[in-house]
Amino acid sequence: MIDIDRASIRFRTKTGHVDAVRDVTFRVEEGEVFGLVGESGSGKSTLLRALAGLVPLSSGSLQVSDSRPQMVFQDPYAALHPRFTVDKTLREPLAINGIGDEDARILAALAEVGLGPAFRFRYPHQLSGGQRQRVSIARALIVGPRVLLLDEPTSALDVSVQAEILNLLRRLHTERKLTMMLVSHNLAVVGFLCQRVAVMKNGEIVEQLDLEAVRARDVKHEYTRSLMRATEGYTRKHIRRNDAIECGENHA
Ligand SMILES: Nc1ncnc2c1ncn2[C@@H]1O[C@H](COP(=O)(O)OP(=O)(O)OP(=O)(O)O)[C@@H](O)[C@H]1O
Ligand SMILES: [Mg+2]
Repeated sequence: MIDIDRASIRFRTKTGHVDAVRDVTFRVEEGEVFGLVGESGSGKSTLLRALAGLVPLSSGSLQVSDSRPQMVFQDPYAALHPRFTVDKTLREPLAINGIGDEDARILAALAEVGLGPAFRFRYPHQLSGGQRQRVSIARALIVGPRVLLLDEPTSALDVSVQAEILNLLRRLHTERKLTMMLVSHNLAVVGFLCQRVAVMKNGEIVEQLDLEAVRARDVKHEYTRSLMRATEGYTRKHIRRNDAIECGENHA
């Protein structure tokens, strides 16, 4: 579904250039959930933006077998237009893509993310953070993508709300057989949803792991180990406490 071969992305700046992505190669199969972790500035968002067609490659090749891959961003408040009602936010992508039957689709998209019709004419400031992120997800889903690109979709949210959104994403994955790429700096979050994980550092993929390897702490790279240590406290304190995520632990 996604095939990236030796892709590099270089940004030109006033003072020179930044090699945000260097020689990255991986494939994501249809229906797979693939995680991307790594420290701040390692190139995760840039890679996701390239997959969404928002940033050109400097070299290499990239293929996404979906004409409408959709992206969900970290901050649902910034991602939604403050003066658009939920209805208008959801109507816009339908208009852009020439998709009819708007009213029925808007109601169905809201229902799919667990929001009733009462939310339809609210503005972003009248929604909680979790509800806003549900609207962002509905906006992505409404055009019927087969690929969903998620850039830290839960990191701006409260821990209990994070769990709700993660469970929603997992349900959508199962029901819609979506292919997903999930960026996170948190291996626990990635471990809940993803079958495979790539670890990025300085624009490069330093390691690719399957879920069993993440759970067994079977990693080769010291950098990956330090990421695991960094998320370990978080996992114990918050995620393990949550029943819904607990079933994620049994999922493997
Ligand atoms: N439009 C741009 N112009 C110049 N440099 C950029 C641009 N976008 C990103 N960069 C640089 O590319 C590098 C990778 O940035 P990117 O946003 O992909 O990192 P990230 O892994 O998503 O980090 P974070 O976890 O903080 O979101 C950084 O050094 C960043 O400063
Ligand atoms: Mg980022």
